[in-house]
Amino acid sequence: MARTCVLVPGDGIGPEVSSAVVRVLDAAGADLTWERHHAGVAALEAGADEVLPAETSDAIRRHRIALKGPCTTPIGGGFSSVNVALRKQLDLYAAVRPVRNLPGVATRFDGVDLVIVRENTEGLYSGIENVITEGVVTSLKVATEKACRRIARFARSYAERRGRSRVTAFHKANIMKLSDGLFLECARDVFEGSPVPYDERIIDAGCMRLVQDPTAFDVLLCENLYGDVVSDLCAGLVGGLGVTPGANIGDAAAVFEAVHGSAPDIAGEDKANPLALLMSAVMLLNHLAEREDAPHFGEVAARIRGAYDAALQAGEKTGDIGGSLGTTAFADAVIARLHPN
Ligand code: NAI
Repeated sequence: MARTCVLVPGDGIGPEVSSAVVRVLDAAGADLTWERHHAGVAALEAGADEVLPAETSDAIRRHRIALKGPCTTPIGGGFSSVNVALRKQLDLYAAVRPVRNLPGVATRFDGVDLVIVRENTEGLYSGIENVITEGVVTSLKVATEKACRRIARFARSYAERRGRSRVTAFHKANIMKLSDGLFLECARDVFEGSPVPYDERIIDAGCMRLVQDPTAFDVLLCENLYGDVVSDLCAGLVGGLGVTPGANIGDAAAVFEAVHGSAPDIAGEDKANPLALLMSAVMLLNHLAEREDAPHFGEVAARIRGAYDAALQAGEKTGDIGGSLGTTAFADAVIARLHPN
């Protein structure tokens, strides 16, 4: 029986890129049924009171997996970001962002193949801010042993399962001795006896090294804010927002989405690059293959990856990465390469 997967098309370019991606997955023979739900401005337009209606988060909880397009955060009105709400409600504690060179996409470096594993629930994103007195505010950085341990365990098991060569923790424990100190203490403990080598870099020196030679790193383990900044830095190394996929993973559910936003400036023009969401969908298929012992999904993922690599290699790409195809034509080009015989 087909596996049901929640699809949240989202706002702006979201519906265009998600329908392109669903077409590719269907053409590749992925045995999935899509259950569509709203989030973002699309949810408000459909009559919901919240940008993340309970019906949408309940569906993700029920099916444990979702592919999500970008959602616009309405300005004003007290609405919070759909992504922050989703992470909190579903306890999606690990953000995973693979960053690799793509064939046919020329960038400053070759051979980049990095994975950023970012703690998604605490640090400076805990939202604990106070006005101490006029002109003085504080923002609390929270680190808990529970969250530090589980993200380190996640990084270790990810690196082992995927045959990665090393995990490097980025930190600033020389200054934030307690919070980053706890992060490191937990990581050292978790990586004790690990078959995948583990090391550490102070984040400023690590960033300098990253832009000098990104091939010197493999998996980067980061607390929340460092992970946010470092993953965009790394995205810039391989071609930017149109080619950067992501996943937010918890014990009970996982949501796969591109790093980019709803791009209102090009929405509805058939210009958006659907590749980042397609790459996120490939991550989703690999996740299902691994977690649900379903090799079929792994085979489909490999076929799709081969097809978009071949299309890019042949110069079939969208405008943001130097090509001339629109959203629909790029999806067609990938579909045409799914079954080369
Ligand atoms: P953005 O990522 O939507 O756009 C930045 C620039 O990149 C724009 O020029 C856009 O045209 C271009 N771009 C983005 N994705 C592209 C794609 N797939 N193909 C070609 N070009 C692409 O960032 P911005 O403008 O800061 O945010 C717009 C809205 O998206 C905001 O409401 C923001 O809150 C939301 N957002 C949502 C995210 C999510 O749901 N995961 C993530 C980031 C932003």
